[in-house]
Order: sequence, then structure tokens, then C-alpha cells
Amino acid sequence: MKLLVIGSGAREHALAWKLSRSPRVSRVFVAPGNAGTAREDGLANGAAASIPEWIDFARKEVVAFTVVGPEAPLAEGIVDAFQAAGLRIFGPVRAAARLESSKEFAKSFMQRHGIPTAAYAAFSEAAPAHEYVERNHAPIVIKADGLAAGKGVVVAMSAAEAHAAVDAMLTEGKLGLAGTRVVIEEYLDGEEASFIVLADGRHALPMASSQDHKRLLDGDRGPNTGGMGAYSPAPVVSPAVHARVMREVIQPALAGMVKDGTPYRGFLYAGLMIGRDGRVKVLEFNCRMGDPETQPILLRLKSDLVALIEHALAGSLDKAEAEWDTRVALAVVLAAHGYPDAPRRGDAIHGLPGPEADCHVFHSGTALNGRDVVVSGGRVLSVTALGGTVRAAQRRAYEIAEKIRFEGMQFRRDIGHRALGGGRK
Ligand code: AMP
Ligand code: GLY
Repeated sequence: MKLLVIGSGAREHALAWKLSRSPRVSRVFVAPGNAGTAREDGLANGAAASIPEWIDFARKEVVAFTVVGPEAPLAEGIVDAFQAAGLRIFGPVRAAARLESSKEFAKSFMQRHGIPTAAYAAFSEAAPAHEYVERNHAPIVIKADGLAAGKGVVVAMSAAEAHAAVDAMLTEGKLGLAGTRVVIEEYLDGEEASFIVLADGRHALPMASSQDHKRLLDGDRGPNTGGMGAYSPAPVVSPAVHARVMREVIQPALAGMVKDGTPYRGFLYAGLMIGRDGRVKVLEFNCRMGDPETQPILLRLKSDLVALIEHALAGSLDKAEAEWDTRVALAVVLAAHGYPDAPRRGDAIHGLPGPEADCHVFHSGTALNGRDVVVSGGRVLSVTALGGTVRAAQRRAYEIAEKIRFEGMQFRRDIGHRALGGGRK
């Protein structure tokens, strides 16, 4: 069978690579894809980058089903459109994707269905928002309601920072439409983890846990980015925390979506804050897999992802099981010069390794220029490796990362530091 993956990042490269390992799959198209998906065995890029083009492409190539990587097409209604065209696709319909595309929708959903999350209020006027900041004190968190590509959240450690964020979004319109309404919420302390499940409307099959590294610089300093690295599993998600997340977050979320008339089918990603006492609160829901979390998660998945998604499409995930490599997988993101503000494009990439059993380099911001692979976006490559321990996976990933070269390449040297209890050892 032929399959289609929508998107062009390392998450989509990893999804397509994993789907292509199924013995039943002859080819996985990635549209629009990148240089990595163009060069990988069993994969091919499709020239399609809008909902009508993707529908035409899926029809023309007779793909068995489509998997959506990023949030934007989901928020635009790609799943509704494919279904209306009689095509099979895995992802939430537009109304269900609001769990990610509107922070206020997500917060009121959680409140309505008793899912633990930070206390909050929502505003579209600056004056009451400033008053709320005064009453509740810093640290406090200001979030643009809409999709803002990772730039919509300000964790304000002082009242001045909080007021400035309110003004930037509501008065100066710095985030455009996404920031015309804001959610202001209680600051939560603890350790973050990413908890992703496949959902079929009623049942959930958990993927392995993981942890992202959002800040640009070592020691979790510098600006927030799309993610500079990730590893799986996350030790903070102990068996007890895992059971609690399923009971307090995932099951009530799926039941709530059914009750609200928009059953959730697709990947559901809960961004969690786990307190020292093991209590769990939801920071955000995403209606897709994480990037870079997908890269280590899928390197560990031993089961056939095609079979798992078929169960999800058929509503029989309660009969599915996922088997995981017991090793740790760790991904180091190599980013372009100037990332995240103004990534420079066009630098040639050298030293890309061939395929190896214990590692895979997934591409995101890359393009082909003749026979050269060149930088074409902020996050360029996810060097992902397996190892018996966090340290071994880390050592292997950095060993490969250090052989890859492009002008201005930046990467963090401490991915996995939380699992090692300090800096990189
Ligand atoms: P979000 O996009 O909502 O996940 O927020 C982006 C990042 O901001 C999260 O990964 C956290 O690091 C941080 N963050 C968001 N909400 C809170 C909160 N209520 N308390 C502390 N940190 C937060
Ligand atoms: N790595 C965070 C995200 O995908 O939203």
C-alpha cells in the first residue's frame, strides 16, 4: 500500500520512515517534504502544500490513508475535507483540533471536565488583564489564545514582564490575530514531560513518554524555540505518574470530547507539569505528535505503526498493543545560524552519515540544491540515537552530530541533562 504524510519537518520524516518499515507498505509520500524525505529509501516527496492539492495527490496516488504531522492543516480542517472527499485520514477534525488552536477553548474544556490545569482567566481588553496581573502577582504566565508557532507564551517572573506581555499582545498587536485574546494563568512549578497517545474516539493507546528541551541554550537558558532536543522515556513519568495521567487526563479528555459531540481521533499530546508530590497538571494539549519528541519515540517503537493507525481508524485501539525498545533514544537538534529569530538559509551541509542500526538523522529545514543538501529552515536536523542508558544514547548522538558540519550550526550540548541529574556528564 501507499501512504501520505502531510508536512515537512523531522517529525514527518520520522513518521514516514517508521511507516515505511511496515512490510505492507510500498511507498510513503511526504508532502511537501524535505531533502531527507527525498533521499530516504521507500519515501518520496509529493508536490502538494494546500488542502485541495493534498486531496488531489491522495486520489491520484491511491494512498490507503494519510497521516497529518503539523497543527496548521488540522486547525484549517484538512481531516474534515478528506473525509468529505471519501478519503481515509488520521487526525482530529477541525472542531476537535481546537484543543490546540484555542488556548481558551482548551482551558474551559479542562475546567468543564475536571482535568487538572492551572487556574486562569481570559481577556481581550488590556485594562482588566492588567488588573488580573496586579491581583494575582508574578510569577504568572501570559498566553496568546491562538496558534503562534511557539512564540505565544510568556512566563513572566516579574509583574513588569507580565504587563509588557499583555501590552504586546492586546495593545500593540505584536502576535496579530493569535494574540487578540489572551489567557493569563497561574505559574506552575515542577518538571515537564510530554505524554502522547493515539486516540480512536473512545480508546487511547499511550506512546512512550518523552521530554523536550525548549530553550535555545545549555542549562535551559535563552529564548524558547520549537525544541532543541528530546529523549524517551522521561524518568519523571514513573509507572505511578503514568497511571495517574491516563486516569486524570487522557480518559477524561476523550470522554469529554465524546460528551461535547466532537470525539477525538488522532494523536493527542498532553504537555504536563509534574509536581514534586507526583501531582499532574496539563500545561497544554496539542492535536498532533511533538517535534522533536516524535524522533526518539518512533526510534524506540518496535510495533508496526501502520497496524496501530489502522486500529485507531477502525475504533479498535483497545485491542492494540505497542512494543517498545527498552533502550533510551535521544535526539539532538542541529539548528541554523540565527535561529530562532532569523535563520539563515542556503548553507551547504556536510558529513551526513549513512543509515545505521542504532541511529537516524531526521531532516527538517533542508532542501536539495543540485546534489547538495542545504539549510532551508531554522531547525535543520534531528540526530537521533539509541543507547542502553541516557548517557550512552547521548554519547552516540553527539558522536554523530559532531561529524556533521554547516556554517553557523548551533546545538545544545546537554540534551538529557534532567535524566542525568545535572549538566552533561
Ligand atoms: P505551552 O505552549 O502552553 O506549553 O507553553 C510553553 C512553555 O511555557 C511550556 O512548555 C512551559 O515551559 C511554559 N509554561 C506554560 N504554562 C506554564 C505555567 N502555567 N507555569 C509554568 N510554566 C509554564
Ligand atoms: N516539542 C513541543 C511541541 O511539539 O509542541
